[in-house]
Amino acid sequence: METNAVLSLSLSICTFFIQTVLSSSTDSFVFGGCSQPQYTPNSPFESNLNSLLTSLVNSATYSSYNSFTVIGSTPQDVVYGLYQCRGDLSMPDCATCVARAITKVGSYCPTACGGAVQLQGCYVKYDNASFLGAEDKNVVYKKCGPSVEYAKEEEIVGRRDAVMGGLMSDGGMFRVGGSGEVQALAQCMGDLGVGECRDCLSEAIGRLKSDCRAAVYGDLFLGKCYARFSTVGAWGIAAKRRLPLSLDYLLIMGLLSLSFFMLS
Ligand SMILES: *[C@@H]1O[C@H](CO)[C@@H](O)[C@H](O)[C@H]1NC(C)=O
Repeated sequence: METNAVLSLSLSICTFFIQTVLSSSTDSFVFGGCSQPQYTPNSPFESNLNSLLTSLVNSATYSSYNSFTVIGSTPQDVVYGLYQCRGDLSMPDCATCVARAITKVGSYCPTACGGAVQLQGCYVKYDNASFLGAEDKNVVYKKCGPSVEYAKEEEIVGRRDAVMGGLMSDGGMFRVGGSGEVQALAQCMGDLGVGECRDCLSEAIGRLKSDCRAAVYGDLFLGKCYARFSTVGAWGIAAKRRLPLSLDYLLIMGLLSLSFFMLS
């Protein structure tokens, strides 16, 4: 798995560093996964899943979050799903992003009972096991950039920690902050309550600060929330320090029954 991670990292090195907090490309891929159980093609489950996915795309034209449960004639055919657009996306961009995410998950998980995809601008997940409204602080995806220049380390880490502290005291589902060269954002899935969002982000931000301590950028995605930071000029610093690759690392962890794939 580590070998695969490094391989995919080197293959995607050109797009790797520009896929940061500041990226304007909301449709680019971050991570995805499929559940092991498969459904039977042309079954009632498949038609419920298709109607769920249609509901998600339609809803994304007017709301940045929504969840649906499609109940079949038998309990085995029920399917649950949600999407969450990043809080700063406009409605047309949210709908475009959700449609792309669904296309992506459909091509990677053609007959899986569950699937999830995170693009830069939106997240989509569906499963035949209920996950709506439940907290989930499992680490799904983590990536830290290379270390900042030594001379700037103290300043950048100080600013980063202050910006992250600001995100913690914010109360919204979508939070942004910045100081000097450092920018950060955090997003909870809309099915969490205010307290659950706070709890989830506390975990994500704590891990991000410790695991990506002096990194030029960091991404930490938990089951129901994420936090990310980036340093302006990360690309320039990263380009100079591109090798050795061991400076970068990434971890993709299975989440419940979902085994995650990493493709870009
Ligand atoms: C999901 O579907 C799989 C395959 O049909 C089945 O084995 C599993 O029990 C289902 N899970 C739930 C929670 O219904």
